[in-house]
Amino acid sequence: MDSIELSKAKFFKGEFSSPPDKSISHRAVILSSLAKGKSIIKNFLRAEDPFSTITAFRALGVEIKDTGDEIIIDGRGIKGIREPDSIIDCGNSGTTMRLLSGVLSGNPFLSVLTGDESLRQRPMQRVIIPLIQMGAEIMARANDRYPPIAIRGKRLKPIQYTMPVASAQVKSAILLAGLYAAGITEVIEPFQSRDHTERILPAFGAEIKVEDLHITIKGDAELHGSEITVPGDFSSAAFFIVGASLIKDSEIIVREVGINPTRTGLLRVLQEMGAEIKISNSRIVSGEPVADIYCKGGRELRAIQIKKEKIPMLIDEFPVLCVAATQATGTTTIRGAEELRVKESDRIKAVATELRKMGADIEEYEDGLAITGGKRLTGTAIESYNDHRIAMAMAIAAMIAEEKTIINDVSSVNISFPGFFEILKKLTKN
Ligand code: S3P
Repeated sequence: MDSIELSKAKFFKGEFSSPPDKSISHRAVILSSLAKGKSIIKNFLRAEDPFSTITAFRALGVEIKDTGDEIIIDGRGIKGIREPDSIIDCGNSGTTMRLLSGVLSGNPFLSVLTGDESLRQRPMQRVIIPLIQMGAEIMARANDRYPPIAIRGKRLKPIQYTMPVASAQVKSAILLAGLYAAGITEVIEPFQSRDHTERILPAFGAEIKVEDLHITIKGDAELHGSEITVPGDFSSAAFFIVGASLIKDSEIIVREVGINPTRTGLLRVLQEMGAEIKISNSRIVSGEPVADIYCKGGRELRAIQIKKEKIPMLIDEFPVLCVAATQATGTTTIRGAEELRVKESDRIKAVATELRKMGADIEEYEDGLAITGGKRLTGTAIESYNDHRIAMAMAIAAMIAEEKTIINDVSSVNISFPGFFEILKKLTKN
C-alpha cells in the first residue's frame, strides 16, 4: 500500500485494543536472548521494528521461535551469543541499533550494524562515546557519527556517566553494557525518559537501583529466563485519543494500554488542554501499569506551553499533538524539542511543512514549533517522509479536514502499527 485517500470523519466511536508496546517488545527479546534458559513473551508486537531485533539476535546465534501466539527464546546466558557471520541490518529501528550496541560492546567479537536510509542518518555518537569510555572499540561512518557502525567488544569497566541528552535508548545501551562490566555502572539522566529497561531488568534477575534520575546496575550479571506479557502501546493509542478529542460526538475506549507515566505526557497535556479523558481498570502487568482509557470528544481545547523537561515523556506523540494544537484556541508552543529533528525523519520540519499545506498556522524554530489554533484544515496531497508516526498523525489530520487527503508512502505504518488503517476505518465508519 503506497498511498491512501482519506475523507473527513463524522466521529470516532467504538473500542479497540492498542497493539503491543514496541519499546517493551524490543527489551523483552533482548533480555530473553541474554538470559540462561527459556523465556516466553506474550502479546509481542509483530511489526517491522521488533522483528529487526529478533533477526539481529538470531544472527547472534540465539534460538527464537515464533509460535504465532508467543515468542519462545532459548537463551544461553549473557556470554552465550556468538560472532555474527555477516553485517546485521537493523532496518528502520534506532532502538535495535542503540541497545544492541550496548550488548555487543561487552562481547569479545566483531559486529557491524547498519540500517535503512533513515537509520543511517541518525546520530550514534551518543552511544559510541560512553561505550568507548567503558572500553569497547567502536568505529562508525563520518568520523564515528553515523551507521554503519563496527564494534569489537571488550572486557568492560564500569563508568559513571552523566548523559547530555535525555534518551531512553542511550540510557538503555549503557545499562545493558553495564551487565558485562566489572562493578557498578551508574547513569544520570538530565530529565526522566521512558523507564522500561529499568522495570524489565529485575524480572530477569539483574540488580538495578533507581533513585530519581540516578540509575545503578551491577555488572558480571547472570540473567535467568522469564515470562513477559507486553502491554498495549500508548504511542499507538495516542492517534485515536487525539482523533476522538477533536471531533464532537466521538466516544472511544482503548483497552489494556500501557499507562507508564514516563510515556503518557500526552494524556496530561490533553487533559490540561481541556479534553475529556478517563482512566479505569488500572493494574500492573509484568511490572508495567496498564489500564483502559476512555475519551469523549466535543470539549473545546485550549493552547498550552510545553517546555524541554516534558518532551521525553511525549517524544513519540509530538506529531499527533501538533494536530491537536491546530484545533486549540490560542497559540501552543513546544520548545526544547530539538531531539525531534533526529528521529525517523526531521519531525519538526515534516509536521510544519505538511500541516501548513493543509492550512495550519505554524511557526518553526530550531527546537520546536508555535501553532496558532482554530484554523480549518483542508485535505491535499501529503508526504509522510517514510516515517510511521508522520503518516499516522497526518491520517488523523485528514479526519478533521474538509475535502479529501492523499497521504503518500504509508507502508511505513508497519514499523510500529500494522492494522492502523483498519482500526481507523472501523472507528470512523458512520
Ligand atoms: C525509545 C526511546 C525514544 C523513542 C523511540 C523508542 C526506546 O527514543 O523516541 O521511539 O524504546 O527506548 P530516545 O530515547 O532516543 O529519545
